[in-house]
Amino acid sequence: MTGEEFPRWRGDLLVGTLQQQNLYRVRLRGKKVTYVEPIAVGKRIRDLHQTPTGKILLWTDDAAVVVLTRRRGAPTGAAVFTQCRRCHEAGGGGSAMAPNLAGIIGRPVAALPGYEYSAALKAVKGAWTEERLQAFIADPQVFAPGTTMAVAGVAGAADRAALLEYLRTYSP
Ligand code: HEC
Repeated sequence: MTGEEFPRWRGDLLVGTLQQQNLYRVRLRGKKVTYVEPIAVGKRIRDLHQTPTGKILLWTDDAAVVVLTRRRGAPTGAAVFTQCRRCHEAGGGGSAMAPNLAGIIGRPVAALPGYEYSAALKAVKGAWTEERLQAFIADPQVFAPGTTMAVAGVAGAADRAALLEYLRTYSP
């Protein structure tokens, strides 16, 4: 996948099927398949083609052409993350404002060397699972009362889900 239409799918393979009437999005790392997502189309897919801007054209068995485009208005993680970037991107400067979030999923809580965490966050212990991140981001003061991350939180579940998807791939 290339182009601007599906930025989160860039580099992935799309495979059409006749039998299952599905499209499969396949993510490869090197030669290994790391992720397969079935996308229900409901028609037998004969062929597919991507336009220069990244839209996907499907030729179906009944000789129709289906155009796939991204759902407009759906939150993107990169957009939601702009509210985090206010504090969280150290950039080249190594800001002491907030810890870097690269590789945050699975990382031990409050454990980045060189960052002065609050006692509140250090008391959480364990590692950041996606569930814990969801809870923290929804309301930091409920998840870790006394944390110095002074934000109200991301209220919308769809926004949080998009943000989590973004954090999975985030490397500044
Ligand atoms: C106003 C600045 C600010 C904003 C905006 C902000 N954070 Fe933070 N964040 C912090 C600070 C400060 C800490 C350290 C908190 C502590 O030690 O209690 C932190 C800690 C974290 C941690 C824990 C990191 C670790 O190493 O354990 C995560 C995860 C996190 N923030 C995610 C986010 C996300 C996602 C957003 C956007 C929705 C966000 N933050 C927005 C300041 C901010």
